Amino acid sequence: MDLYEYQARDLFEKHGVPVLAGIVADTPAEARAAAEKLGGVTVVKAQVKVGGRGKAGGVKVAKTPDEAEAAAQAILGMDIKGHTVHRVMVAAGADIREEYYFSVLLDRANRSYLSLSSFEGGVEIEQLAEERPDALARVEVDPGVGIDLDKAREIAVAAKFPVELIEKVAAVMVALYGVYTAEDATLVEVNPLVRTGSGEIVALDGKVSLDDNADFRHPEHAELVDRAAEDPLEAKAKQHDLNYVKLDGQVGIIGNGAGLVMSTLDVVAYAGEAHGGVKPANFLDIGGGASAEIMAAGLDVILGDPQVQSVFVNVFGGITSCVAVANGIVRALEILGDAATKPIVVRLDGNQVEEGRAILAAAAHPLVTLATTMDDGADSAAQLAATAQK
Ligand SMILES: Nc1ncnc2c1ncn2[C@@H]1O[C@H](COP(=O)(O)OP(=O)(O)OP(=O)(O)O)[C@@H](O)[C@H]1O
Ligand SMILES: [Mg+2]
Repeated sequence: MDLYEYQARDLFEKHGVPVLAGIVADTPAEARAAAEKLGGVTVVKAQVKVGGRGKAGGVKVAKTPDEAEAAAQAILGMDIKGHTVHRVMVAAGADIREEYYFSVLLDRANRSYLSLSSFEGGVEIEQLAEERPDALARVEVDPGVGIDLDKAREIAVAAKFPVELIEKVAAVMVALYGVYTAEDATLVEVNPLVRTGSGEIVALDGKVSLDDNADFRHPEHAELVDRAAEDPLEAKAKQHDLNYVKLDGQVGIIGNGAGLVMSTLDVVAYAGEAHGGVKPANFLDIGGGASAEIMAAGLDVILGDPQVQSVFVNVFGGITSCVAVANGIVRALEILGDAATKPIVVRLDGNQVEEGRAILAAAAHPLVTLATTMDDGADSAAQLAATAQK
């Protein structure tokens, strides 16, 4: 999960990284109040999970609360590379002498950590890496040792910090590494890290990505999830522990096993070409034990997608027999009742397939049709979706 700048700022503060005061605001009036509270010059900053905010006009200096309000007015609602700004952070203005760059990240290819740093920060780091690669120090960090003061000094020297700054900068790097490990991050990036007029080293911007695999160690991270920005269907699927990804199509897909679901997407996309170009609406793997509850939850999520016009259930009975799956579908439709509104094509195969099909045939649910092969099922579902669209 990527964090917003203000969330990164809070984590920095929690772990002793020097930051400036910042207050979030969702309206221009709140931005004015925040600027009044902070006093002096402030900087109004768009909170979006994408780089290049400054260049896009999403970072504005405000000398007065009036200016902060106007800046927030201009920034809120702005579109930055496809991200709409719903919130700004009003930050205390820094008296910047120099801008530096520092990051530490998970280096998967080398099964290690990597620190990137430069005495010449503030600019776009990709550009620096390309134009002046020697100005960007890449230092491997042994995960077993981490960034202690010695390592931080090594990094600062490699990044060409002048000798009188090494100790001060190294201390901040150690604190930033503290954020990286204590929060189970895969990236901590500061651009710019600045030296102020009074000689302080301060993190003026922060990007943090947290490792979702470590969520179990951090119940407090749940609060950082931006519910409003989450796809509501994906959020609902997550509540039921379903492996669901929304796609841009009309045929809802339910299958068991990631491989089968992937090939179902392919087969439906292919079949759809003959039916006006309808496409799969989602990826949904209900896994091994397809109970009625899981099937109902899956159907519920899929039918909640207004784009969906038909559903293709493609299940291969292995350890879970087709009898259990068929009963699951029948019960799921009972649970959903009137909420089930779209035609459902079911293809079962494998363990106890005849018995499973017999159960569905006997139930004779008006929305359900049976298909014998995966290709037939995909074709029927695509055709039903195409017809419903007309
Ligand atoms: N609190 C602040 N006080 C003074 N100047 C600031 C402050 N915050 C940012 N700036 C200036 O604005 C520039 C851009 O800010 P920032 O780094 O936060 O955004 P960005 O780099 O454009 O966005 P991103 O890092 O998402 O690409 C900084 O390099 C710095 O010069
Ligand atoms: Mg930046």
